[in-house]
Amino acid sequence: MKFTVAIDGPAAAGKGTISKAIAAHFNLAHLDTGLLYRAVGRKAMDSDLPPDAIAHALTPADLLRDDLRTAEVAQAASRLASIPEVRAALVDFQRSFARRNGGAILDGRDIGTVICPNADVKLYVTADARTRAARRFAELSAKGHETSFDTVLADVKARDARDAGRTEAPMVAADDAVLIDTTGMSIDQAVEKAIRLVEARYPAN
Ligand code: C5P
Repeated sequence: MKFTVAIDGPAAAGKGTISKAIAAHFNLAHLDTGLLYRAVGRKAMDSDLPPDAIAHALTPADLLRDDLRTAEVAQAASRLASIPEVRAALVDFQRSFARRNGGAILDGRDIGTVICPNADVKLYVTADARTRAARRFAELSAKGHETSFDTVLADVKARDARDAGRTEAPMVAADDAVLIDTTGMSIDQAVEKAIRLVEARYPAN
């Protein structure tokens, strides 16, 4: 069975949590495509190689590093993500993941628009910037990162502007995506809504 769910949206909107819950509920393979860009960004910090060469040479181990979730790496990822050659180097892997037998869910910024324009379900998950920053701040603080709410808010806004403003594969909802604004929702409510939307398109129905 081939079944593809595409989830896009800005940083810290809840895409990751929702994607993991959908993957578990429908037994789909999950790819957090932001990790690919983060891994390229992280390696570029210690390398003189051009970023597209780093992207072409990514290995599964690069995605397992435990230092990819910092704000510094997120900014590096967002800068490199505007380079067309970097994006091109990562397309085939994402598309073949999406066509896995048994079905797949991918989350990112351009899944419904560029990577999987024919996805069976497209969701665009968003929330206002302060809500997203508050969530990310709580997440980072819980992991022991020393930062402030204002720093996280500035990071989120800078990435939003860069990701939405770039020429290549900008962050935008696909015309046929269903919008989920999680601003006033609990995690459980957002997950439940997303599962209902996927259920409606699931092949068994
Ligand atoms: O989703 P996450 O915050 O981990 O993504 C890090 C950065 O990677 C984003 O700010 C964005 O610039 C880039 N990205 C992208 N396209 C994707 C996924 C992530 O450009 N499909």
